[in-house]
Amino acid sequence: MASIQHIPTELEASADLALPAADELAGRFPLTPNPAPASPETYEDIMSTLAFGRKFTDHMAHMRWTREVGWTDHGVIAYGPLNLVPGASVFHYSQSVFEGIKAYKRADGSVWTFRPGYNAARINHSARRLALPEMRREDFVASLVDYVRADLKWVPEAEGASLYLRPFMFASEEFVGIHPAGVVDYYVIGSPSGRYFKNGLSGVAIWVEHEYHRAGPGGTGSAKTGGNYAASLLPQIRAEARGFSQVCFLDTWEGRYLEELGGMNMFVVMADGTVRTPELSGVILEGCTRSAILRMLREEGGDVREEKIVLADVIEGICSGAVAEVFACGTAAMVTPITRLGSDDFDVELPVGDKTRQIHRRLTDIQWGRAADPYGWTYRLA
Ligand code: COI
Repeated sequence: MASIQHIPTELEASADLALPAADELAGRFPLTPNPAPASPETYEDIMSTLAFGRKFTDHMAHMRWTREVGWTDHGVIAYGPLNLVPGASVFHYSQSVFEGIKAYKRADGSVWTFRPGYNAARINHSARRLALPEMRREDFVASLVDYVRADLKWVPEAEGASLYLRPFMFASEEFVGIHPAGVVDYYVIGSPSGRYFKNGLSGVAIWVEHEYHRAGPGGTGSAKTGGNYAASLLPQIRAEARGFSQVCFLDTWEGRYLEELGGMNMFVVMADGTVRTPELSGVILEGCTRSAILRMLREEGGDVREEKIVLADVIEGICSGAVAEVFACGTAAMVTPITRLGSDDFDVELPVGDKTRQIHRRLTDIQWGRAADPYGWTYRLA
C-alpha cells in the first residue's frame, strides 16, 4: 500500500524556509574571549575522551529578554557559572525549554549542522507552550554560528563524534508568584561528544513502563522542556536496575500504545518492509531525526505510517516474525537499534536489522557530508 500524501507539519514547513548564509548572520553575538580558556592538557584530555555531554567548551552564546525591551545583550562570553538568585522563577516552576543540535566537522575541516531551521521552529513551539518569549529564527541560527566560530577547535573529528549544542532558555525573573517571567535568559553551550549510547550500534535494551507516564493530553509532551525529562528519571532508574538502558512510555489513557522513549522517538520495521512510528498526538516530541527519516523513506517510495501502534501487537509480531526491527532515533542517539524489549509480562529480543543500518548510514552520510544532501538539510556554520 502506498503511503498517504504527507502534508508537512508546521515545524517541517518552517524548517524548509531558506536561511541566510552563516557569513551574513555572523557577528550578531559579538565575542568577548574567555580570559582563562582550558589548558592544552585539559583540552587534550577532553578531546581524547569524548564522553557524551560531560565537558563543555570555553565559551557560550547568551542573550536576555525583558518584557520592556525584548531580546537584548547578545554576545558570546566565557563559559562559566551563572549568577542567579535563588528567587529566580525557573527554580520554582521550571519555566524553561531547550534544544539539541550537533556541529559536525567534515574531512575538509568545514563545520556543518543539520536542519537548524527545524530547531529554531521547535524552540519557539516549546517557548509558546511554556509561556516564554519566541525569538527570530535568524537569531537562533546566529547564536549557533557565533558560538561555534568562537570554539571551532572543540568540534571533534573522530568518527561518529560531534560538538553537541545545547541551546536553552529559562525564566530568570526574581519572583515566586506564579506568572510568566518578565526576564528570560537564553544560552548556547556545547559539549564535544561521542556516541550517546556507548555500544549503541550493537543495540540497546528498553524497558516498557506501565506504571508511570511521561506526559498527558493537553500537557507539555510536545514541548522540549525539562519537566518531561524529569518525569522519565524515576522509571529510568528502575529500568537501569533491571539491566535496561532506557524507558519506553505508553499512552496515558489506555496504556496500550507506544509513545516515545525518555529522550528519543521510536520506529517499528515490519517484515514486509512497512515502517511505522507513533503518530504525533500532541503528547510526543516532534523529533527532527524522526521527521528526516520519514521524509527519506517516503521519497524512496516506502510504505511509511504514522499511526497508533499497539504494544501487544509489536510483542506478538516480534515473537511471530512479523516485526523485523525496532529502533530509536534522536539528535543525540542518532539511529540506535533496539535489541530487547522487556516489561513485567514479556522479555523479547530482536536482531540489529538491515533497514536500521541503512537508515543510520544514509542519515550520517548526509550529516558528515559523505553523501549528497538532496533535501537542503545541511547548513555550513564555519
Ligand atoms: C537530543 O537528542 O538532542 C536530546 O535532547 C535528548 C537527550 C536524550 C539528550
